Amino acid sequence: MIAYFNGRFLPKEEIRIPVDDRGFLFSDSLYEVIRHYPGGLFRPDAHIRRLNHGAGHLSLSCTDFSYLIPVVQDLVHQNHMEKQDALAYIHVTRGCAPRNHPFPVPAPDPTIYVCVSLFDPAARARQRNTGIHAITVPDIRWSRCDMKTTGLTANVLANQQAAEKECHEAIFVRDGVLMEGTHSNFMAVFDDTVTTAPLSNYILGGITRDTVLGLCRNLGIRTEESPIYQTRIHLASELMVTGTTLEVTPIIVLDGRPVGNGMPGPTTRALQAAFTECISF
Ligand code: PDD
Repeated sequence: MIAYFNGRFLPKEEIRIPVDDRGFLFSDSLYEVIRHYPGGLFRPDAHIRRLNHGAGHLSLSCTDFSYLIPVVQDLVHQNHMEKQDALAYIHVTRGCAPRNHPFPVPAPDPTIYVCVSLFDPAARARQRNTGIHAITVPDIRWSRCDMKTTGLTANVLANQQAAEKECHEAIFVRDGVLMEGTHSNFMAVFDDTVTTAPLSNYILGGITRDTVLGLCRNLGIRTEESPIYQTRIHLASELMVTGTTLEVTPIIVLDGRPVGNGMPGPTTRALQAAFTECISF
C-alpha cells in the first residue's frame, strides 16, 4: 500500500515516526477520516475545513491543508481504488521536538501522514439494514470535542464497553444529555422531528450529521438542534447514529431496551434512501 508521509509517497511499511513526535508523546495532533465511494470522495472539502479549524485552534505551523485533497485523490489512484469503497485517513501532528509541554520554538513543521484502506461495505450494509444495539456511558471526555484530536482514550474505553456488551456503539451522556457516539453523531425522532445535539464544544460537527440535516430539509422532515435528555429518551420513536463509517444507522436497542417497535423506523429509512442518492457518483 502506498501512503503519503511529509511530502513523499512511499510504501506504508517504510514509514517511521520519530519518538519525539508530539503526536506520539502528547496526542498533540488531529485526524480526519474521509469516505471514498466508487467514483469519488465524499465531501473532502468539508473534512479539510474541519481539519483547518482544529489546526487554527491548536496554532499549528500550518493551518491550511487543502493541498491534501489532491494527495488523497492521488493515493486512491496509486492504490487502484477508484472503483472501490475505501477510507482515507489523514493524521497531522504538531511535529517533532524534545518532550516539553509548551509549543516548541521555533515551531516545527507538522508531521503529515495520509493513507487509504479498503472498506468492506457489506458488513456495514447489514448493520444499516438491521440496526445496531448501543449503550449509554458517562461522557468523561474533555470539553473541546469540536476538534478532531487523536486523544481518543475515552472513546476507545467507551466503545470497548459497548463491544463487551455485544453492542456496536456507546453514546456519551453529559449532565443528563445524550451528546454523540464514540465515532458518530446521535439523532432521535420525537413526534416526527429529527432532534440532535446542537453544535458546541462538546460534540464533533460531523460531516454526515450536516448532510443528514440538509436531507431532512429537502424531504420536509422537521429538525431540531436541541439537547436530548436521558429522562425523555424512552419517548423517542427512532434513534440513529450518523458518521463517515456508519452513514445513517438505526439504533434498535439502547441499554437493553427496544427503541420504538424494535425495528428501524420510517424516518431513518427515508434518510437512508436519500443518503444513498448523495453518495452515487
Ligand atoms: N469519527 N463524533 C465523533 C466523536 C466522531 O469520531 C465522528 C467520526 C463523528 C462523525 O463525524 P463524520 O460524520 O464527519 O464522520 C462524530 C471517525 C469516522 C472515526 O473516528 O473513525
